[in-house]
Amino acid sequence: MTEKDFIPKPYPKLIESGSHSWSSPSNIALVKYWGKKESQIPANPSVSFTLDACKTTTTVKYKRLEQPNSEFSFDVYFEGDKNEAFKPKIKTFFKRIEGYLPFLKEYHFIIETSNTFPHSSGIASSASGMSALALCLLTIERDLSIPLEVTEEYFNKKASFLARLGSGSACRSIEGDLIVWGKHTDIEGSSDLFGSKFPYKVHDNFKNYHDTILLVDKGEKQVSSTVGHDLMHNHPFAQERFKQAHNNLSRLINVFETGDLRAFIEIVESEALTLHAMMMTSLPYFILMKPNTLEIINKIWRFRQETGRNISFTLDAGANVHVLYPESEAKEVYEFINNQLVVYCQNGHYICDRIGFGAKQL
Ligand code: DP6
Repeated sequence: MTEKDFIPKPYPKLIESGSHSWSSPSNIALVKYWGKKESQIPANPSVSFTLDACKTTTTVKYKRLEQPNSEFSFDVYFEGDKNEAFKPKIKTFFKRIEGYLPFLKEYHFIIETSNTFPHSSGIASSASGMSALALCLLTIERDLSIPLEVTEEYFNKKASFLARLGSGSACRSIEGDLIVWGKHTDIEGSSDLFGSKFPYKVHDNFKNYHDTILLVDKGEKQVSSTVGHDLMHNHPFAQERFKQAHNNLSRLINVFETGDLRAFIEIVESEALTLHAMMMTSLPYFILMKPNTLEIINKIWRFRQETGRNISFTLDAGANVHVLYPESEAKEVYEFINNQLVVYCQNGHYICDRIGFGAKQL
């Protein structure tokens, strides 16, 4: 498929107004997307667990304008209050997707959005937020189209394609439970344009995998992901890093099939530390981990060595730690988290999440 496949034919229907709501989850990358080309094309493929509890719920109400506007016309409400701060990002998103949703200047939109996780938790809301918004807008397009012509497969691909243009990782939040984004020679159907389900066998060890998110630092990040991605241009280790991501994804195909948790841990932790190593070796360099991030990592390593439990960690572009563990070991690991790790969380706050199955229309 190419970008052109997402440009619709003229809409057969005219609709005055309507409303759609979606709830869309966050996701956590196992192989990380870090570095991109023009138009939100990833520099390397990535794979993620879709999450379940960390979600954004968005309603988009639309009303036809008397005549098409030259600007986008919309209001945003976040958790019930009018929000001006989100508007520039949404405007940029509208600009990027206008060619694929040509009705955008013909309507006024009221966008109401809220998260299940606290806004100031340091958890990126762009993946869940942009995917929920993309889904609402695409559902409006479906209202304007002949329903039978829009297959579920096409709908999911286009939703992911649009979400990607809002925020790269958002394209992995449409479906679950294991999503690949970025062309990889060993993965059939993988594409730089949208995320899709990992197409091969996944061992039961990975069913219901847990992700307890330890909120080490809830402040605003000093360096945004978008700036971080940009620093991969002319980065001295970029080419090696992109190669490594391809190799790690190749190795994971076998790990998912066999359920080899030790190999899984090695790949996932190496990916997390490489991501942060890229930040520390870019120019300008920066560090997003905090002292408590390292305390937690060391405690996890010690616990794993002493008990043999298959606990591991991964990191986003921030200080928070995602603690990953299989369902069969959940009781012991959860006790360990409670007894030994929660002290490192800001105000003792953490979020219990697990692998999930994607966005839902409400
Ligand atoms: C470290 O998707 O937030 O979480 O495309 O600029 O919006 P933009 O970046 P974003 O980057 C996420 C980076 C990451 C790794 C990952 O999710 O794969």
